[in-house]
Amino acid sequence: MLKVEGYTFDRAKREAVEAVQAALGEPAELTTALPPAEVDADLAIPCFPLAAQRRKSPPEIAGELARSVRPGPLLAGAQAAGGYLNFTLARPAFAAGVMADLIRGGDRYGTSEVGAGRTVVIDYSAPNVARQMSVGHLRSTIIGAALVNLHRHTGYRPVGDNHLGDWGTQFGTLLYAYAHWLDREAYERDPIAELLRLYVMFDEEARKDPALRERAREWSLKLERGDPEARTLWQEFVRHSLVEFQKTYDLLEVRFDHTLGESFYEDKMEEVISQARQNGVATTDGGAVIIRLDDAGITTPLILQRSDGATLYATRDLATAVYRIRTFRPAKILYVVGSDQRLHFRQLFEALKKLGHGDVEYVHVDFGLVRLPEGRMSTRRGRVVFLQEVLEEAIDRARALVDEKNPELPEAERREVARIVGVGAIKYADLSQNRVKNIVFDWDRMLALDGDSAPYLQYTYVRARGIIRKGGDVALDVPFDGRAAASAQEWALIKHLARFPDAVHEATRAYYPHVVANHLFQLAQLFHAFYQEIPVLQAEDNGLRWSRQQLVWGVATVMRTGLGLLGIRVPERMYSRFPVPGIGHGAKCRV
Ligand code: ARG
Repeated sequence: MLKVEGYTFDRAKREAVEAVQAALGEPAELTTALPPAEVDADLAIPCFPLAAQRRKSPPEIAGELARSVRPGPLLAGAQAAGGYLNFTLARPAFAAGVMADLIRGGDRYGTSEVGAGRTVVIDYSAPNVARQMSVGHLRSTIIGAALVNLHRHTGYRPVGDNHLGDWGTQFGTLLYAYAHWLDREAYERDPIAELLRLYVMFDEEARKDPALRERAREWSLKLERGDPEARTLWQEFVRHSLVEFQKTYDLLEVRFDHTLGESFYEDKMEEVISQARQNGVATTDGGAVIIRLDDAGITTPLILQRSDGATLYATRDLATAVYRIRTFRPAKILYVVGSDQRLHFRQLFEALKKLGHGDVEYVHVDFGLVRLPEGRMSTRRGRVVFLQEVLEEAIDRARALVDEKNPELPEAERREVARIVGVGAIKYADLSQNRVKNIVFDWDRMLALDGDSAPYLQYTYVRARGIIRKGGDVALDVPFDGRAAASAQEWALIKHLARFPDAVHEATRAYYPHVVANHLFQLAQLFHAFYQEIPVLQAEDNGLRWSRQQLVWGVATVMRTGLGLLGIRVPERMYSRFPVPGIGHGAKCRV
């Protein structure tokens, strides 16, 4: 099991390990695990690793240990169960510890020093200039932004870089098409749409007349050699695209520390190429410069330079990595890019090792495809899905829900809530699933109030905040009353809150934002189960009431913090008009 030091759950795990070591009379490599839900215990130590050396069966060892261990203050007792030694936690002490962690941490709850200040460059979004940002880039943007937050929370220094596709032979295509077929009026109205049309048109025409590819190549070389006309036009394309991309980033509220597109490396590729040749990493092959990677089990060589002198995507990626290593001194570089580029990154990482940059950890944080339901919301032009429309559709749908359920809110607030909910729904639909899987946009599921969706979690937050407001705020300086950890519902909630730091750590370690998303979904379910059965504001006495209010406050805090790590905001009010079906309250609202 993971270790995020200093938090109560970690202390409990350490106590369990130390108790076993003391009973064994010697240090031993021990791990802890969570017992399955049906077992009445909170923590387990598997005894299997101890068996071989001691020539006893794991159940025998567990049985002996159960009789001899002396549990520390966070532990209440130990029992053997098969090859496991199970511990129960001392509920009052554990609960008080968790609440103290939460109150001390506030929105910083779950932070850790796991990263120890090490720098991680995160390469994300990276759309291509003169194209529409695709839904694939949306995934990269959302996952990358979440990884930036997660790394910051766990003590790394994240550096976010948007590696814009603003260079390469495709601009030759575009320049040729622009010179011959531009519809100036259309271009002035909507430059990106017109450039896209030219792109598609070039493809069609070149299929009829392959000589066009040669013309495009000439334009591309003109651009690389600094021809003023080609340069001016290219700059214009980049400028128009950046304006377009920025609209999407504004909607998503995503920012980058750097936006160093591929063109930034134009004058930095020569060094990489000549170095690779000098130290024999690269060879020439019919005029082209290549790096063979057979010894790494990759049969396709990486092409550094074509025989006509043109450089490639991979050349720029090599120069980019070298620049990043020099400039930021990273321990890791993460590339948040679809799994269709797996080969490219395998080649890149091997080539970097050959070039002497093997001390950096390179990770291709890959992800699957997105499928959109057909119909109005999946406009396709030139087979590209218009991302802006997907986002706007989500906001429109959220707006309709808000109008229906919160007509009393002022217009400005309704607009804001619709935006928070709509954008949150898109982000959550992506981040709540294992990134390697393909995802399908399912509007109903995405915006459902009672399912694994952003609105459900946001609503849980709003609900918790409502209870706190109704109770006239929460006394955070009152020590937690152990009686408020007695019921199954309270105890499950407390243990779940205790595990949030581990979820954050695990999500960061495996580059899996869905681990945090799933944790929050479970938190919401536990909260609603708790609130359905356990009176908070109507509690029997003040001690219980204050502590249960603290619990509710803890839920709100973890929900806001966790969603914040995923880049999802929470509204303060939402859907107040109707009791929400399916989350366990029905009409018996206690707020
Ligand atoms: N622009 C590229 C594409 O859309 C993605 C770039 C990803 N980052 C990188 N360093 N290669 O396919």
